[in-house]
Amino acid sequence: MKIKYTAPLRGELSIPGDKSISHRSVMFGALAEGTTEVTNFLTGADCLSTISCFRQMGIEIECTPSAQGAHVLIYGKGLHGLSAPFTTLDAGNSGTTVRLLSGILAGQAFDTVITGDASIQKRPMKRIMTPLTAMGADISSENGNGCAPLSIRGKKLHGTHYASPVASAQVKSCVLLAGLYADGITSVTEPAVSRNHSELMLRYFGADVRTDADEPSLSSAVSNELYGRASSFEPDASASAAQTLKTLNNTKSAAHTGFTASISPEPTLVGQKVRVPGDISSAAYFIAAALLVPGSELLLRNVGINPTRDGMLRVCQAMGADITLLNEDHSGAEPCADLLVRSSHLNAVEIGGNIIPTLIDELPILAVLAAFADGTTVIRDAAELRVKESDRIAVMTENLSRIGCPVEATEDGMIITGGKALHGASIDSYKDHRIAMSFAVAALACSGEMDILDAECVNISYPEFYEDLAKVCR
Ligand code: S3P
Repeated sequence: MKIKYTAPLRGELSIPGDKSISHRSVMFGALAEGTTEVTNFLTGADCLSTISCFRQMGIEIECTPSAQGAHVLIYGKGLHGLSAPFTTLDAGNSGTTVRLLSGILAGQAFDTVITGDASIQKRPMKRIMTPLTAMGADISSENGNGCAPLSIRGKKLHGTHYASPVASAQVKSCVLLAGLYADGITSVTEPAVSRNHSELMLRYFGADVRTDADEPSLSSAVSNELYGRASSFEPDASASAAQTLKTLNNTKSAAHTGFTASISPEPTLVGQKVRVPGDISSAAYFIAAALLVPGSELLLRNVGINPTRDGMLRVCQAMGADITLLNEDHSGAEPCADLLVRSSHLNAVEIGGNIIPTLIDELPILAVLAAFADGTTVIRDAAELRVKESDRIAVMTENLSRIGCPVEATEDGMIITGGKALHGASIDSYKDHRIAMSFAVAALACSGEMDILDAECVNISYPEFYEDLAKVCR
């Protein structure tokens, strides 16, 4: 697909529903008793894969498109209401589906095989196989390479404590979901806080979930590190913002060496109403586009600003971005707000440490912002990028070089020299939705035309992406 828009971004946009929260609404709704009603559900291919897996396990799910996301009804059958699927479960491109579902499948009274597309079959699954096996699960990689297809024989599980070497919400959620079927309390400690949607939503459905943030003695350390957020991200605050970011980057709390979430087994989950906030990971492309194109002023409606997801806002603030939070509110347990973004002059920044999990999916678009910022941006502590839908360090380095940006890949990040005049080029998305969207945004600030291979892969998380971009570039 060839892309070239020239006009500033103006007007307003409602961002599609959050992918992580949409997945979880179906999973927890299926395990709950009674009906769960979800509004603003994301109809990206990943979330449709989750729906299809649960339908295969006997859960009736109605999904009706509406003007604002989809309206979804899940007729839950309780914790033990799933039935054996007739065929292999297909998670498509979705890591969240494979990893979270494996935690649920490990505790069932039936056996399953779960797999996905070529990308999923290369992504590491040992990270969930190890803790599940420690809980008594019988899970193996059919090809013996630690990847899907995974063969899972349902077993009675044991409560355990797992110290995860990676800050991964998929690992944490997998273990907590297996903990629903264990014979005692299950807990997970991670080296930095990853997104906490499972903890918030499981609790909302009636599970007994506890986290460090509930402990008064630890909550101040946690909130200092993560939850301290100014409600305005205007440029005049950027000097102190850069300082805050520096502190956050470097803080390893003296009070504790990890962040723990725990769950009690066999709760009765009860169907709920879930209003999914807009996905900050999708909003990220429009935030970046409005910052980059001179004369832009764009209002993004109803964006989720959960502090475990809002690292991009803090980094943009430190770069000098003019972003204002308006109408702060909650969608259930999830905080959300409207974001007013105005084009801004950006400066380089260092991104590393505990902030990384809070912006992990935004690093490709942050790398694009860095390419247009003054100075050299260093991204570190982000080795997880190598095991996403593509190796995002290698793919971003290759594609940024193609548009003329001096960039060096490191083992766990990138060093990007910004501020040079960049030009359109032929870009390989490697069928990774976040790469395609990042370079569609880069196209707005490059000379010439950008040609993106497999551009339609945006269907994974944002099917209307190009239409929405055309709508506001006028
Ligand atoms: C997700 C967690 C993150 C993120 C992914 C969605 C989730 O992955 O990159 O897009 O919904 O839990 P990791 O847990 O592997 O960091």
